[in-house]
Amino acid sequence: MLLSNLFRKKSTSVIVKEGGDGEQHSGLHKVLNVRDLTFFGIAAIIGGGTFSAIGNACFSGGPGVVFLYVICAIACGFTALCYAEFASRVPVSGSAYTYAYVSFGELFAWIIGWALIMEYSIGNIYIAFSWSGYFTNLLESFHLHLPEWLTINYKSAQDALMANKAGEGLTAWNTAPVVGGLRIIFDLPAVVINLLITYLVYRGTKESKNFSNAMVYTKLVIIALVIIVGAFYVDIANWTPFMPNGFGGVMGGVSAVFFAYIGFDAVSTLAEESKNPQRDLPRGMIYSLVICTVVYIILALVITGMVSYKLLGVSDPLAEIFALKGVKWMLFIVSIAAVVAMTSVLLVFQMGQPRIWMTMSRDGLMPKKFSEIHPKYKTPSFATIVTGLVVGVPIFFTDENFVLDFTSIGTLFAFVLVCGGVLLLSPQSEAELAERATKGKFRIPYINSKWIFPPLFAVTVAILVVYIPNYFSDIFHFSGDKIATNLPLIVFYILCFVMAVIAFRKNLSLIPLLGLISCCYLLTGMAVSNWKWFGVWLVIGLVVYFMYGFKNSKLNKNK
Ligand code: ALA
Repeated sequence: MLLSNLFRKKSTSVIVKEGGDGEQHSGLHKVLNVRDLTFFGIAAIIGGGTFSAIGNACFSGGPGVVFLYVICAIACGFTALCYAEFASRVPVSGSAYTYAYVSFGELFAWIIGWALIMEYSIGNIYIAFSWSGYFTNLLESFHLHLPEWLTINYKSAQDALMANKAGEGLTAWNTAPVVGGLRIIFDLPAVVINLLITYLVYRGTKESKNFSNAMVYTKLVIIALVIIVGAFYVDIANWTPFMPNGFGGVMGGVSAVFFAYIGFDAVSTLAEESKNPQRDLPRGMIYSLVICTVVYIILALVITGMVSYKLLGVSDPLAEIFALKGVKWMLFIVSIAAVVAMTSVLLVFQMGQPRIWMTMSRDGLMPKKFSEIHPKYKTPSFATIVTGLVVGVPIFFTDENFVLDFTSIGTLFAFVLVCGGVLLLSPQSEAELAERATKGKFRIPYINSKWIFPPLFAVTVAILVVYIPNYFSDIFHFSGDKIATNLPLIVFYILCFVMAVIAFRKNLSLIPLLGLISCCYLLTGMAVSNWKWFGVWLVIGLVVYFMYGFKNSKLNKNK
């Protein structure tokens, strides 16, 4: 009984009806077309990952980091197709959360909704910190200097003190005012940008849309300029060796590189504000992903070609490369581009989070207040304010590295469930498929994996055994610390084997299967400490669900 309640599912037709495409209009403005959605995608994708995190990824992997960009693009591409399939069948705002409700049932839906907080809100904390870094650079170029204790987070200053590391952190600690024994140290620009963005999102989609489109144009033009100017300084000697720290070094950048791709999925949260969600959402997601992938690969090649990868382990690598080459005017332009790019990412994520909560609240899994729509601005006003707080308060306590890893692991986890969800969707009837085709709705192409995936897996294993003889004996070496370190890879290979068997027996669809496997592979690159924190987060989520959502779920009440 309990078990069947945990996996109770919503039917797609009921979800669509409630979501505003049917009888009960949700009250949100339907104003977005495919171009707007593509722009929203780009606005969400190119941000902190491109301007900040790329530095540490290059430092870890060297020029070979481009392989990781390709791997992540493949994983995200398959996942985008799965998102698109869901978005075409279930065109409402909840994103992966709603999709899980249809395919896996309520408990998984809740878990995804909970994991998405890491993507949208925690991700925004990282971006707010990175934004502040470049914004402070910009102020400096106008000879405006904010005191250090107002431009760094408390934790980084404290860490600098512990490590006795000279620099901004230690200066902040030593110069901060002390009130009641507590040092006042916080990242003021990060706090202020969060307040501004929250206000903008609260005021409404239309204003936000225009703002976002303008920012996307600006950042694409400026990134093109970075690539063109940078190309003149490329010295191909910097590309040798291509993978100085081996493939392990390349995979060390997985949180950072994957973070750079997060965002295409945010498009799916705008379903209820799109004019024709079933046709336009999939297109918007895929177009934005393709454009950004091309940009990343070129950008990574250019920056690792300009200077040695060893010099890129900084938080503002795009400014650093031009500083090292003495191109002062580009420094200024890059800082502006970074500030603009990151503002648009903040905006899209800050719009996505309240819309997911709104949907969860409609289902009874969160208090009613979260689905309240502002009578004048037509936005989920209460949920927007709570998002502002969820992003804003931790800015005072956390640091950027922690939130970066946390965001990537939570998002990958959600992606895995979305791909898995598509594998579980019930096949549609001929009539339904014909209706989708005539209306131009997206449909994921069905390719039977039976004779593709199992041989692919077998060939990969054979290649690894032949070319890296110790590969598997190292991984499946059950002793000491190695077990913990290798556990993700052990689980991955077992999963591949199991999926190969299922693919063979059940004729699984190839695209979602590859999406699932590639996202799981990226998860193996996450450090064990991240898994621990992620586990704690999930346990807290489960406690909240059993204390509130399980009882208050609409599905429970409608029984
Ligand atoms: N992809 C987004 C960024 O890099 C999250 O800022």
